[in-house]
Parts: sequence; structure tokens; C-alpha cells
Amino acid sequence: MQTRVLTGITTTGTPHLGNYLGAIRPAVEASRRDDVDAFYFMADYHALIKSDDAARIERSRLEIAATWLAAGLDPQRVTFYRQSDIPEIPELTWFLTCIAAKGMLNRAHAYKAAVDKNTEAGDDTDAGITAGLYMYPVLMAADILAFDAHKVPVGRDQIQHIEMARDLAQRFNHIHGHDFFVLPEAVIEEQVATLPGLDGRKMSKSYDNTIPLFAGGKKQLRDTIMRIVTDSRLPGEPKDPDTSSLFTIFRAFASETETAAFHAALLDGLGWGDAKQVLYERIETDVAPMRERYEAHMADPAGIEVILQQGALKARAIATPKIAALREALGLRSSSAKPDSASRPKQTAKQDKLPRFASFRDADGNFRFRLFSAEGEELLLSASFTDPKAAGIVQKRLKMLGGADAVMQIRPRGFAIEMDGEHVASTPDYRDEQARDAALAPLRHALDQLAAQD
Ligand code: TRP
Repeated sequence: MQTRVLTGITTTGTPHLGNYLGAIRPAVEASRRDDVDAFYFMADYHALIKSDDAARIERSRLEIAATWLAAGLDPQRVTFYRQSDIPEIPELTWFLTCIAAKGMLNRAHAYKAAVDKNTEAGDDTDAGITAGLYMYPVLMAADILAFDAHKVPVGRDQIQHIEMARDLAQRFNHIHGHDFFVLPEAVIEEQVATLPGLDGRKMSKSYDNTIPLFAGGKKQLRDTIMRIVTDSRLPGEPKDPDTSSLFTIFRAFASETETAAFHAALLDGLGWGDAKQVLYERIETDVAPMRERYEAHMADPAGIEVILQQGALKARAIATPKIAALREALGLRSSSAKPDSASRPKQTAKQDKLPRFASFRDADGNFRFRLFSAEGEELLLSASFTDPKAAGIVQKRLKMLGGADAVMQIRPRGFAIEMDGEHVASTPDYRDEQARDAALAPLRHALDQLAAQD
């Protein structure tokens, strides 16, 4: 079984080396593993909590998407999307809000830090604190639980949020007597969790000590590296690599052999200026080809948009049926069990313009059916049923289901439809993932058309 790994990237800043080594590079590497089903998204709803600067949020989103793609993320392989394209996330946020203990949210680090700051300043406890900041952990839990993620790679400061997501998942499962949600686990990249910045403290935008990944090109990269703080040892004097942030950053990029050589050179008295040049060249070797791809993506925002829209489609193929099941559990399902009329296409009287079922008996004498689109394209082939009535019931239920409520499993080259956890039908195998993703909308449309009948 594949492990579903999910992480969000808040779209406020411009990516720096710490982001690359701590989050982007390990995430891209993980996404290439066969046992990983990666979901990476841009947390632009979270960005609204920190910033009301629309231009900055939009710019950052573009930069971050371009950065991840340039770093080698393959959107065919990974589900790569934008949080604000998934309406199921805010919907789930509300479901979780209604079971979240207020006391738990009172204890969230980010909220508590803001309260402490007010208290110290002698202000009202909640002065200047939005409910958005307060609800941050619930929105994050919805991000994770909507997709049944098993593992969530995050920085240390986020561990508490994952624990809260687990708590909310457990509560919901308990209240509704069914394992609706997987309990997620935090994953911390021990090795690279803290890359030092220019001043030796953790590289972070809030310390203003970052080295940009792409912004400003190679000149900016070199200039910033030259500003890394060192001790005052002169060329010829031995340097202690283990207390030098220069060395720590170098090691994060270099092979063991390169690292050993740099270590020896510092002990041997390599001057700091030369050491910085070595570091710059080593980083530039990795960054230069990525920067080229980054610039190409930045010059083509429409291309990025297409990638994100396809990602949203893949993500919603999972979130939509999940939320439908939750709505049902919560008592919110409409009694007609049909999609609302606004999304229902108008029907013409002509029967030949509708999707249709065709039943048949297979070589084993079992009963099956196919669903064809109005245009005659094969959309689904049913499982095989020994009892023709069972096949009939599935057909009947498919007719009433509507596209939004179909529980679909994504397969490498198609989709499978389930009812009550049982596989009932699947699409044909498509040429590739792109063809598969393109087939989803027509399938949903046909199911909507069927549901709108009568
Ligand atoms: N809060 C995370 C951060 O600041 C970003 C984030 C939002 C996230 N939603 C998530 C991370 C879901 C993991 C899973 O780093």
C-alpha cells in the first residue's frame, strides 16, 4: 500500500535556501518513491491569516509553484494544487470547528504567543488577534483530514497542529461511530530541520537572515553568501568547521567526499573569503539548472494555472466523495439524494442525447453492464455480478448518484467507483494520467445527466 504524504506551503514569502533544503528538496525526493502518494499544496487560505496584501499573496503563490516545479516536482505523479481551489476544505473546516474544543485552541502555540505578547504589553488579552489566527489549527486539520493523509512532513513548530488534527479526527470518528478519518502523523526531517542563516541562527524570514534560492539570480546568491558571519580568524589560521554555519550549509548540498575535503581545507587554514567562494560555487552547481526552469515557469503563469487546475481536479476526486459521506453522517444530505438543481444540466427531450447503460452477460455467464456517454463513448464497465438483480440495483443507484457524490478511487490509468466500500464499476484504462484526469469531468457530467432525469 502507498503511504499518503501531504504537506502545505504557506504562500507569503519568497523561497530561500532553508525552505529548499528543509522542505522542498526532501519533499520532491519523497514524491519519486513508489511507495509514496504525495499531496503538496499551496496553503493560500492560511496566507490570508498572515497577510491582507493581495498582490503579495498572488506573487508568492506564483513564485512558490514555480519553485516546486523547478525543483523537480512532477505534477503528473504528485497531486499538486492550491488550497483555495478545493471548496471541500472550508466545508470540512466548519464540520471540525463544531467539534473542536475551544480549550484546545486556547492552547495553540501561535495564538498563545500572541496573547502573551499582549499581556506583556499590558494590552487587552485578545487585542489585534483575529479569529482566523485562532482557527488556524482547524483549517490545517481540514487540509490533512480531507485527504486521509498518513504522514505530514512539517517543521518542529507545526507538530502541535498535527496533534490537534489527530485529536479532531479521533473525536469525529468517535462521535459518528465510524473511522471516517485516518489519524495523521507528523514527520520531521531531522537532518536538515535547522539550516543556519547568515547570523548563525536558524534561517528564517522572521530573523531577516535568509539566503534567497532564486530571487536576484546568481549575483544575489553570491553577494548574500559573502555576508555570512564568520569569526575573525585570518587566512592560514585553522578554522573550526563544526561551529561554522558556512560548513553546515555546504554539507547540506555536498557529497560526503566533498564535505570531507572542505572540512580538511578549513582545518588547514582556508581563508573565509575563499571558503565562501567554494560554498557559492557548490550551491550554484545545484541551483543554476533549477533557476533556469524557474524563470521559464515564471514567464508562463498560464502554464502554471493549467497544472494547478489539473491538480485540483485530482484532489477533488478524493475530497468530494469524502465530504459527501461526511455530510450524510452529519445529517446534511438532501433528501432527494440528487445534486442540487443549479448544477443539473438542462435536459432536452431527445433520448439519444443522454448517457445510456448497456447490459450483457460475460463469458462466465455473469451479468455486467457498460455506461456510455451521450456521445457514445464508453465511460464505465461494471464489476461482474452473478445475480442480475444486483447488477440492476447498482445501475439504479448509479443513475441517482450524481457526479459529485460518486466515490472514486484513483488508479494509475483510470478511476474505480465504489458503493458501500465495494467496487462496482471502473473506467477503461486510459493512455496515461493526463488522459485519465481529462476523463473525469465527462464521467461526472454523465452521472449528473442521469441524476437529472425523471
Ligand atoms: N501551517 C503550515 C506551515 O506554516 C502550512 C500548512 C498549512 C500545512 N496546511 C498544512 C502543513 C497542512 C502541513 C499540512 O508550515
